[in-house]
Amino acid sequence: MAAEAGGAAGKRRIMCVGLVCLDIISVVEAFPAEDSDVRCLSQRWQRGGNASNSCTVLALLGAPCAFMGSLAPGPAADFIAADFQRRGVDTAHVAWQPRGEVPCACCLVNASSGSRTIVLHDTNLPDVTARDFERVDLAQYKWIHFEARNAAEQSAMLERVERHNRAAAPGRRVRISVELEKPREELLPLMGRGHVVFISKDLARHFGYKSAPGPPRGRGGAPRPGRGGPGGGGGARGHSVCPRPTSRSPRATLICAWAEEGADAMGPNGELVHSDAFPPENVVDTLGAGDTFNAAVIFALAEGRTLQDALTFGCRIAGRKCGIHGFDGIV
Ligand code: FRU
Repeated sequence: MAAEAGGAAGKRRIMCVGLVCLDIISVVEAFPAEDSDVRCLSQRWQRGGNASNSCTVLALLGAPCAFMGSLAPGPAADFIAADFQRRGVDTAHVAWQPRGEVPCACCLVNASSGSRTIVLHDTNLPDVTARDFERVDLAQYKWIHFEARNAAEQSAMLERVERHNRAAAPGRRVRISVELEKPREELLPLMGRGHVVFISKDLARHFGYKSAPGPPRGRGGAPRPGRGGPGGGGGARGHSVCPRPTSRSPRATLICAWAEEGADAMGPNGELVHSDAFPPENVVDTLGAGDTFNAAVIFALAEGRTLQDALTFGCRIAGRKCGIHGFDGIV
């Protein structure tokens, strides 16, 4: 059905699979000294977690979206579920766990610099499983984004989407993105499974990439030093902006955001794309800025925009987010 590409397919949704937690945020004027007793400027509860934050941003951008992750009944989950509903994020595939606690993070946001310091308690709530994922009707989704967490189960979920894609007409396939934030060995194979792979700057640094490559001119054109990761090269513009995924998905797009240095991407044919950052006048709150970037890039790519456009859009929306507290006002 050729019409599907722009018709029914246009109505398909975006799903984000990963963490939801409660963020208890204290906004401080300056980062407190250890063992001090200070007042904060304001305090709030906010629904957090990378996949959950990305859903917030997708919803604000106007994309129908769904969240899949775990919750356990209680006051934190009540707050979280009400907030998902307020944003219009579908939670039909939340896995309600009979035991375990909803993860909770104490976050200090320094309003003078925008820095966010997170202490997360994320220990005993089971993650969603491949079995939970079996219940997802893949035909309803045009894009599924995985925040890499429980590698073995997520690998089986990815396998199911890959199987679906092999059998589906081109206009009915599900695009897959994977976010890798932490350099945890067992998560790295998931890098090879996304059509689009988001690599955090921490992970890129772990691979030996110290920063974004410089602009084509400016900074003397000298390659930035780096040990060179799996992609080889040392971070010079024109070479291995980000580490390359190892297998299975040679035509993946790799994306790495470098905060104030903007973002770089390598397209499926090795083409390199860069966007500068769009810093707001005052950076007040960077909590969830990376999740905002990911969501905005996914949103733009899912609309069929070019990689360059998507990267620039991601940087623009993430920049806007850094200039405001929370997410309201990013569009
Ligand atoms: C921001 C965030 C917070 C959460 C923490 C989890 O990216 O998702 O909302 O507390 O990271 O690691």
